[in-house]
This record gives sequence, C-alpha cells and structure tokens, in this order.
Amino acid sequence: MKIALLGLGTVGTGLLELIDRNKAYLAKLAQSEIEIAPILVRQINKKRDIIGDYQITDNEEIIFNDPEINLIIELIGGEEPAYTYIKKALQNQISVITANKLIIAKYGKELQQIAVQNKVKLDYEASVGGGIPLFSQIDNYFNSADIKSIYGILNGTTNYILTEMENKQISQAEVLLKAQKLGYAEQDPTSDLDGYDALYKIIILARHCFARYFALNKLSRSGITEVTLQDINIANQLGYKIKLLAKAEIIDDKYYLDIRPTLLKKENPLAQLQGVDNGLLINTFNKGDYFFAGPGAGKYPTALAVFADLKNYFVGNKNLNTKNLIKADLLDINVSEHNYYFNIKLKNTETLLKDLKKEFKNEKIEIRKIVENDLKNDYLQLIILTEKIKYNSLNNLVKIINEKYKNIFIINYLTIEGE
Ligand SMILES: NC(=O)c1ccc[n+]([C@@H]2O[C@H](COP(=O)([O-])OP(=O)(O)OC[C@H]3O[C@@H](n4cnc5c(N)ncnc54)[C@H](OP(=O)(O)O)[C@@H]3O)[C@@H](O)[C@H]2O)c1
Repeated sequence: MKIALLGLGTVGTGLLELIDRNKAYLAKLAQSEIEIAPILVRQINKKRDIIGDYQITDNEEIIFNDPEINLIIELIGGEEPAYTYIKKALQNQISVITANKLIIAKYGKELQQIAVQNKVKLDYEASVGGGIPLFSQIDNYFNSADIKSIYGILNGTTNYILTEMENKQISQAEVLLKAQKLGYAEQDPTSDLDGYDALYKIIILARHCFARYFALNKLSRSGITEVTLQDINIANQLGYKIKLLAKAEIIDDKYYLDIRPTLLKKENPLAQLQGVDNGLLINTFNKGDYFFAGPGAGKYPTALAVFADLKNYFVGNKNLNTKNLIKADLLDINVSEHNYYFNIKLKNTETLLKDLKKEFKNEKIEIRKIVENDLKNDYLQLIILTEKIKYNSLNNLVKIINEKYKNIFIINYLTIEGE
C-alpha cells in the first residue's frame, strides 16, 4: 500500500506523525505494509521538524509517474495546483483524501463523478469543522429527508475575532492584528472575514445534509467587517451574541443558504462557542435537534480528521449521501424572512423620529422593541428590533432612508435568529 502526501505544512506534519505512530495499526487495516512516497512540498530546502525517515520532493512527476501509488492525500490548500492534482489522481484511478474546502465546494460534484466513474474514493472529512467528525455522523446517521435546517459556526478566525472583541473590549482591527501574530488569521484574511470560507463549508455540509448540490456563484454571503464593538455590546445587553452564522434550510421544497453576522440568543449553544471552536446545530423534522462542537482547526484535530478518512479508506464503512446529487432549487432571497436588529443614529427632532417610524410602517415592518439613547450634539441612537420581515422590505427601507434623509444614518443592521 503506497500513499502519497501532497503538502507538509501544519496539517501534513500532524498527519505524518499520526501515520508514523500508527503504522502497525494501519498495516493491519490495509492488510499490507504502508509505504509513504516522497512527500510533495513547494520549498525543498525549507527546514522541517519531522519525525521518521521520509523523503521530500518538489517534483510532482515523481508521484504522478509512480504506478504503485494507491492513494493521494492533498494537504496543499488553495485552488491550484491542488485542483489539477486531485483531478489527475482520480482520473488515474487513485483515491484522494483532502482537507481542501474551496476545491470541494467549487468542484466537488465534478470530482465525485470522476471518482465514481473511475471506481475510486474522494473523502474530505477535515474540510469542514476541522476536528469535528461531521460527515461521518451526517452520512451514517441522518437521511436527507429528515433534515430541516442546519446552523453552523464554521469559521474559527471570525469567531475568535468576535469573542476577543467582546472579552477584551477592543476593536476588530486590533483583534485582527493580534490574531495574525498568533497565527489564527491569515496575512490576507479576506476569505475568513468576508464569509467565503464559511460559504464553502456550508455548501459542502448542505450537499451531505440535503443530497443536493449548490452552485457557488448563486449564493449570498456577507462577512463580519461591518460588525463593531458597539453592536456587540448592545446585542449583549439585549441578551444576544453576534456570530458569523452559516445557515442552510429547506423552505417549501426550496433551499436557502446564507452566511451573515447574526444575533443569536445567549442560550443558543452556537452563541456559547468561544474562540476558534466550531459548532453545528442540525434541526430535524422528527428526530429532535442535534449539536456538534469541537476544535474547528489546528494541527492535530485536523490531522485526526484526515486520519479518520484514511482508516475509512481501508474499512470502507462510509455511506456517502452524495453519489447522485440533484441540483438544489434555491429559494429567492427576496422572500426569505428574518427578524432584524437596526442601529440607527439620527438628529433628535420629533419630526425626524416620526418620519423614521413612518418609513418602517410604509414597508410593513413591525417594530418589536425600540431602545433610545441620547448621543452628543443633539443626536439620538435608536436600537430597533423588528418582527419577521422580508429581505426586499429590508432593502427598500435601507435604500429609502439613505436616499431621502440627510440626518438619519443606518449604522448597521443584522439578522436575528431563533426568535
Ligand atoms: N491548518 C488548519 O488548522 C486547517 C484546518 C482545516 C483544514 N485545513 C486545510 O488543510 C489544508 C492544508 O492546510 P495547512 O494549514 O497545513 O497549510 P500550510 O501549513 O500552508 O501547508 C501547505 C503545504 O503545501 C505545500 N505547498 C504549497 N504550495 C505548493 C505547491 N504549489 N506544490 C507543492 N506543495 C505546495 C507547502 O510547501 P512548503 O512547506 O514547502 O511551503 C506546505 O507544505 C488546506 O486545504 C486547509 O484549508 C487546515
């Protein structure tokens, strides 16, 4: 049994340690000795702290020209060359294990088909939720017809930022700098902060939960960059935590997927996730609700998830829901309904206050709670919580207020979940 490892960074190093320590166990599962091919890296001369006697190469030909390789584990990350390598491997009838959420979200359907055609496997437990065994639970336990909705905190970086802003009472920019120093955030944090990372993950989860595929470019997403410390503190006083919530739901046979900063009631288990932890809440039609949580990233938790795929490769007990995917019929976002939180600043005059309330009324937006705070220079802050409203009413309201009123400023508006 010959295995090729592509990438020897954080996760690759952790996995190599696990393989090295469990060689006898793996050999028993494989009913054959385990051999590791030269490991593919980018910088051949980089100093590495690895155990065991393993060869390293920066020449992918060594791997792709070796007819003895049965399995490739891709831990490079990013789109290219990872996509080309995975596709080539599957076409060459070599099974693949990967932790690459971008590739699986964007090309998962195509790659799964190639795997099926070539009678090989493509597994990716580590691509979502880091060390939380999500797919093995979902695939083996739930049926797609049972699942009503899934809600997740799937991005450790943004959860760390939001938690630290609240705990240390500092701005998002300050936390980001610290997170980058600690290695919790990338030097270019766009994919995390703007919600792309969470979007890739919810697409993959939704595929397993609903046995449908979702086109990446058709989905809505917003990140946490607009969330201020003030929003976090006000939400806290009102009994909520702000989280970057990933959501997938079936509504009247249509599917709704979304990534948005959202107010969650403090009692919600997702609201209680601190730092880089991830969690997933699965609501079923008749089996009750399930909550999974754990380390969303990190060398060993993630390596353990890759190792779980490796074990499954030998014992083959995975029952993937994703072999024959149907295209998901997406719900028109304009008819989706949510409760909203508004943070509005306005000149403190009776007329303006009346006008603002009138605009809410015109859009048939019912106000559930309103908190007024006096600000400096005759300004007033209004925190408004609404009843459920349609997305297009929200957009109309924001547009009208921004265009019509010089002295009303919508500082922020966020979704509230679970009212
Ligand atoms: N880190 C986590 O906590 C975590 C959690 C969940 C999922 N993941 C996923 O796991 C995968 C690996 O992440 P990681 O954190 O281990 O990444 P990493 O530390 O950046 O390591 C990447 C590895 O890939 C190699 N590499 C990069 N470009 C290459 C190229 N063009 N050709 C050959 N090798 C190349 C690098 O080589 P050099 O060593 O020579 O630079 C390095 O060994 C990613 O898909 C990531 O999204 C990571």
